[in-house]
Amino acid sequence: MTMRRKLIVGNWKMHGSHQTNAELLEGILGAGPCTADVAVCVPYPYLSEVAVRLAGTPVRWGAQDCSAHEQGAYTGEVSATMLKEFGCRYAIVGHSERRAYHGESDQLVADKAKAVLGRGITPIVCVGETLAEREAGQTEAVVKRQLSAVIHTLTHCCSEIVVAYEPVWAIGTGRTATPEQAQAVHALVRAQLHAATPHSADMTLLYGGSVKPDNAAALFAQPDIDGALVGGASLKAAEFVAIARAADAPLPAAR
Ligand code: PGA
Repeated sequence: MTMRRKLIVGNWKMHGSHQTNAELLEGILGAGPCTADVAVCVPYPYLSEVAVRLAGTPVRWGAQDCSAHEQGAYTGEVSATMLKEFGCRYAIVGHSERRAYHGESDQLVADKAKAVLGRGITPIVCVGETLAEREAGQTEAVVKRQLSAVIHTLTHCCSEIVVAYEPVWAIGTGRTATPEQAQAVHALVRAQLHAATPHSADMTLLYGGSVKPDNAAALFAQPDIDGALVGGASLKAAEFVAIARAADAPLPAAR
């Protein structure tokens, strides 16, 4: 029987300023502790100030991407070693926006996950199908393909990642997957991980895509959904805190 802790991660994307970041963090910290683990993934230039503000608090911080390379002539890239210096706990890799707008392949995403993990940072590996793929009945095949690149690259270390299932059609659209749709894919992800590692039951699987205070609890009640990767709602302290509070309910994830 495994009790997984819930994890709620805010993905600020390319939003923020000194002032709005400070206000947002005050709002989150002012709400007091909750039983779920909470983190914010912020744009690179703000890592430093966010790290200073969150030091000594229960709220963790992370980045939204990371280079697959260790160092060198890679203009514009940021390495896992650099992120580690800022005390990053997490790095999102393979977000669908990076896959779609920056041409990131399954293998590049896997290499990024490996680079991140190599520096002791937890990669939050995003997988998910587009609307066209879902309608063509390819959801399972797409998610499996995206995840298998990571499993093959990390081998036994794959138990140390967090997986975020984010159906592309649900991101920023207000059209969230139903709890049943999300759970169905989460169960497939966990089964795929189970075939690769004896620790699959301990792994954290997040759902992402239009998570809001009013749909969070139903998602978190699903047996294989261990929290959320939150975009739009993570920019409003009250909404983000309400989502984290929805994870305060007694943990259903016993297996
Ligand atoms: P959303 O974004 O919550 O705004 O849909 C989620 C994400 O892209 O991680």
